[in-house]
Amino acid sequence: MVDLIIKKRRGFELNKEEYALIIDGFISGKIPDYQVSSFLMAVCLNGMTSEETAILTDIMMHSGETIDLSEIEGIKVDKHSTGGVGDKTTLILAPLVAAAGVPVAKMSGRGLGHTGGTIDKMESIKGLSVEMTRAAFIENIKKHNIAVCGQNANLVPADKKLYALRDVTGTVDNISLISSSIMSKKLACGADAIVIDIKVGHGAFMKTIEDAEALAEMMISIGSKMDKKVTAVITSMNEPLGYTVGNALEVKEAIETLQGNGPNDLTELCLELGSQMLVLGELAKSQDQGIEILKELIASGKAYEKFKDLVVAQGGNLGVIEHPDLLPRSQYSYAYRSNTEGYISDLNALDIGVASVKLGAGRETKTSHIDHGAGIILKKKIGDHIEKDEVLAILYSNSEANFEKAKALMGSAYKISEEKPALKPLILKTIQ
Ligand code: URA
Repeated sequence: MVDLIIKKRRGFELNKEEYALIIDGFISGKIPDYQVSSFLMAVCLNGMTSEETAILTDIMMHSGETIDLSEIEGIKVDKHSTGGVGDKTTLILAPLVAAAGVPVAKMSGRGLGHTGGTIDKMESIKGLSVEMTRAAFIENIKKHNIAVCGQNANLVPADKKLYALRDVTGTVDNISLISSSIMSKKLACGADAIVIDIKVGHGAFMKTIEDAEALAEMMISIGSKMDKKVTAVITSMNEPLGYTVGNALEVKEAIETLQGNGPNDLTELCLELGSQMLVLGELAKSQDQGIEILKELIASGKAYEKFKDLVVAQGGNLGVIEHPDLLPRSQYSYAYRSNTEGYISDLNALDIGVASVKLGAGRETKTSHIDHGAGIILKKKIGDHIEKDEVLAILYSNSEANFEKAKALMGSAYKISEEKPALKPLILKTIQ
């Protein structure tokens, strides 16, 4: 392993046998975390070729069980986000698309770095389990057209371990590591087609549109090598999506969005990604037709009903969904106020994401415990006018000491200007 670390540190390409040795050794515990961390850092500094990325994806995909969904009728379409702040899209999109008739077999992840994860959000619903056998997963999809599971020990165990290690070693934001992580899971889960939401901006792992495009191309190329259609949608993650950041807070906003009362940006993104999924699933001939179908499913309440089906099928408490105020909420709150008047010209999603982690909504170490009720409700976002002393956001935490850490980040997140800023688009580019 030392030789392989040095080889990558010097910028050389590794072959299939060498990647297999690293991944097998890591899973079996023969290669310790510190050596894998060092290797990951060398990858971040020197990169991997697309050939190496495809090899790593294939080894990771086969590091555990793979799921064969062929007994489920229809084109199975999956979706994945590269990670953002306030990104509760899956909670809305999965039932929305399932209600339209596309079978949704979704394996989701936990929070990573400053970004949240669907599984942590779903676990804030009392009783809900994301762990299920392969048979139960398939049975739920057959019955309800939808199932969302976490990454159990048997599915892509290599990614599960690597993801947790990358999260706490500063080795997340590398195009090859992100591509192999996402694509190995999507491929192991047996989807026929995949929509990837590639986030770009302050709060995303990709900071420039060029990097986002490179990530898109890398994932599309891995998909085509495996005969899977991949559509990549590059979307802005400069400010958080919607008004909530933090697990239970986001579940409540997702329910409101499914009921047609969600924030504009979140609704727009769900319609965009959802319509791409309907096109890939051959349930819509065009994106415009897909958007009309999805709007109708929200207006008729069918999308919300499908979300309830999902929650009940996975053991969740329906009362909590029907009365979201019963979702966990941290004991203490703090109203963060502006010290000047003007227009909000920037709301840095990275600062908000890190502030939310400090409040207890994310993990700072591999073993950190998540406070499902912690997080931030934004009261004002980019373009809004504010008065001096007006509340910009409410912070929630189970420890008042955390407010001090989060307040400094809130201060750097909000930028105030005299002029009203021009609003920038959310959907930036689609690549197929
Ligand atoms: N999402 C993933 O599943 N993996 C990554 O590496 C980043 C985002």
